Amino acid sequence: MKHRTIIEPFRIKSVEPIGLSTEAERIGQLKEAHYNPFLLQSKDVIIDLMTDSGTGAMSAHQWAGIMEGDEAYAGSRSWIRMEQAVQDLTGMQHVLPTHQGRAAERIIYGHLGGPGKVFISNTHFDTTRANIEFTGATAIDIPIAEGQDPALQHPFKGNMDVGVLDQLLKQHKGHVGAVILTVTNNSGGGQPVSLANAEGVSSICRRHGVPFMLDCCRIAENSWFVQHREAGMEHTAYREIARRMFALADGAVMSAKKDGMVNMGGFLALRDQALAEACTNLLIITEGFTTYGGLSGRDMEAIATGLEEVFDPHYLEYRIRSTTFLGEKLHELGVPLMRPIGGHAVYIDAKALYPHIPPHEYPGQALVCELYRLGGIRSVEIGSVMFGTYAEDGSLRPARMELVRLAIPRRVYTQSHIEYVAETFEEVMRTRQEVRGFRIVKEPRFLRHFTAHFEGL
Ligand code: F0G
Repeated sequence: MKHRTIIEPFRIKSVEPIGLSTEAERIGQLKEAHYNPFLLQSKDVIIDLMTDSGTGAMSAHQWAGIMEGDEAYAGSRSWIRMEQAVQDLTGMQHVLPTHQGRAAERIIYGHLGGPGKVFISNTHFDTTRANIEFTGATAIDIPIAEGQDPALQHPFKGNMDVGVLDQLLKQHKGHVGAVILTVTNNSGGGQPVSLANAEGVSSICRRHGVPFMLDCCRIAENSWFVQHREAGMEHTAYREIARRMFALADGAVMSAKKDGMVNMGGFLALRDQALAEACTNLLIITEGFTTYGGLSGRDMEAIATGLEEVFDPHYLEYRIRSTTFLGEKLHELGVPLMRPIGGHAVYIDAKALYPHIPPHEYPGQALVCELYRLGGIRSVEIGSVMFGTYAEDGSLRPARMELVRLAIPRRVYTQSHIEYVAETFEEVMRTRQEVRGFRIVKEPRFLRHFTAHFEGL
């Protein structure tokens, strides 16, 4: 018999209580947090879908590894295990351990960047862009056109526009720092990148002699999509698909807090020895010695195990299908979404949900607050609060889209938690006309979404 029900392919061995609250309590908590979910306390949150980064549950095998961790300053056994796990997966000889993804980004893009340099990506994640721009370089996003229409169905909306890439590499000849393919494309809706697209990007980069980097923090999830959606790939194992993608690149940056299945960690992997040596100098100055970087021995042990577990076909099937399960339930309720559903998150089109709230009244922020008031669900606005800027006359230059992200932590929530989220959306849909927008009453100069204060209109 083939079952419809997706079961979590694990038993729960240790539990963490969730504090339940009433709507009246949550209204008070929202007010105290100035209607900004980043200012809520996690003890008050019922279902936390703020991020899938570092929020996953480790396996019994990983926890056992925590005790096995070798905390030697140099030549730690746990480092040897992690180094081998990364070399085996990426096929890259030089591995630099870092405390998280952005530390690896700072090292490699700090070295390759600088004023006048240009970096090109399907979409730079915020920390990637920030690390590049901090060096004085420019970051250009070139997703395919299909990736920019929320409702349009396309199997690989995370792909890079290779035609535009070729033109840009000619135009910026001699000034390109690197080309970066983010798999899956987080800022573009968690959408996958095909192997064919990665091959196209790789051959154009080779032809122009520019480094090709993979941002591989969700590479296992991306491999699931390749196996299930790309012609001819249906019999290739997930790990093999990942290996083939790595084989096309010159280097990789990973935040292990995603598909590394750990709460903290990352790495930079490189093929070229001279480049690796230059980066190793920066690693030692800012992160730590070469055999631990920014990590404890126990963290490295957990990463080595996490990188194996994440390619388990039963885990990946559960992971992608349970994200889709939430997305399809919301779609049935008529909630406007980014489609098809991505790997780690469901993205809601708040502009379409609340057409009566204009971008300068932040429809995404309104939905984030509604989800918390109605269900204690924490999510993140990815729209004009995060990316909006001000014109000379003080008016808001809105973001391209007004999205809200529901990111699913790995191995943390069960099907009933997800059904609770869907049920909350029934009420969101029923009361959508009554919802009003917000205005910002206090904001910092940079990355305002983290600390801004809001007031309801
Ligand atoms: N690259 C991508 C594609 C990411 O999604 C992230 C983090 C990073 C790099 C940086 O890694 O946090 O370990 O320094 N994304 C998290 C998120 C924060 O919520 O999507 P980090």
